[in-house]
Amino acid sequence: MKIQLINGPNLNLLGIREKTIYGDGSFEPFLNELRQKYTSVELDYFQSNVEGEIINKLHETGFSYDGIILNAGAYTHTSLAIADAIAGIKTPVVEVHISNVYGREEYRHVSLMAKNCKGIITGFGLNSYRLALESFLI
Ligand code: DQA
Repeated sequence: MKIQLINGPNLNLLGIREKTIYGDGSFEPFLNELRQKYTSVELDYFQSNVEGEIINKLHETGFSYDGIILNAGAYTHTSLAIADAIAGIKTPVVEVHISNVYGREEYRHVSLMAKNCKGIITGFGLNSYRLALESFLI
């Protein structure tokens, strides 16, 4: 099973940025834990702060991978282009958020991409990614 995990803007700063919201762990050790736990899964990781690069990665993996886990960060709430990319590919995408976006500012309650995704997991900290991964295994 091949899964692509994509982190969008500012998620390279996990462990540094707004720790009360996003926690104090950086992403790489968590990613290693996932890889060690789910040995049957080939888990590829990509992070970009650039909208077009996220779209390119969706196109690149969206016809051959079994699943995509996407935390598009703030682009979730603004990017029609990423929403269209998800609609245009074949691989199912699970939208993920570390924080519970529905418990935060109103502008975070809107996801332009949600309707094109298989499902959404929000609010479980880094475990949101683990739950998304497991959703492809059930
Ligand atoms: C986020 C929530 C977004 O609203 C925010 O812009 C992020 C991170 C999350 O994982 O909780 O950058 O996607």
